[in-house]
Amino acid sequence: MVTLKINGKSHQVDVEEDTPLLWVLRDSLGLTGTKFGCGVAACGACTVHVDGVATRTCVTPVSDVADAEITTIEGLAQGETLHRVQQAWLDAQVPQCGYCQSGMIMAVAALLKETPKPTDAEIDEAITNVCRCGTYQRVRKAIHAASA
Ligand code: FES
Ligand code: FES
Repeated sequence: MVTLKINGKSHQVDVEEDTPLLWVLRDSLGLTGTKFGCGVAACGACTVHVDGVATRTCVTPVSDVADAEITTIEGLAQGETLHRVQQAWLDAQVPQCGYCQSGMIMAVAALLKETPKPTDAEIDEAITNVCRCGTYQRVRKAIHAASA
């Protein structure tokens, strides 16, 4: 049994300690907003916040995050109020197929917490998420809108 704190709620899950957090979120807890892309920490589709830090869950053993505050895309808004990154995404109509976008939004939310007004160079360095639909220009525009 591993106890996890996710989006402010405590969950007990009966999984092997080396199970990647991604599969616990998706398969054990039904939090399917976090996506599987590559499985090797290369694409960012599986990004959540662990103690506020953007973390790729496909390579994060669940035992490593047992005492952490985990936030997934499902817990980013405050009730009915979207996080400012989510609102900027809507305003700029960023997503295309949408598959990469929850990980992208979580990565950007973590960036803006650390760096409220990132330059293009800081965005390039921090946001390495892959989008097969090529939404990168709208992602950049929305980041700047959210940081204005
Ligand atoms: S699925 Fe985790 S980084 Fe690609
Ligand atoms: S919106 Fe389709 S992969 Fe990014």
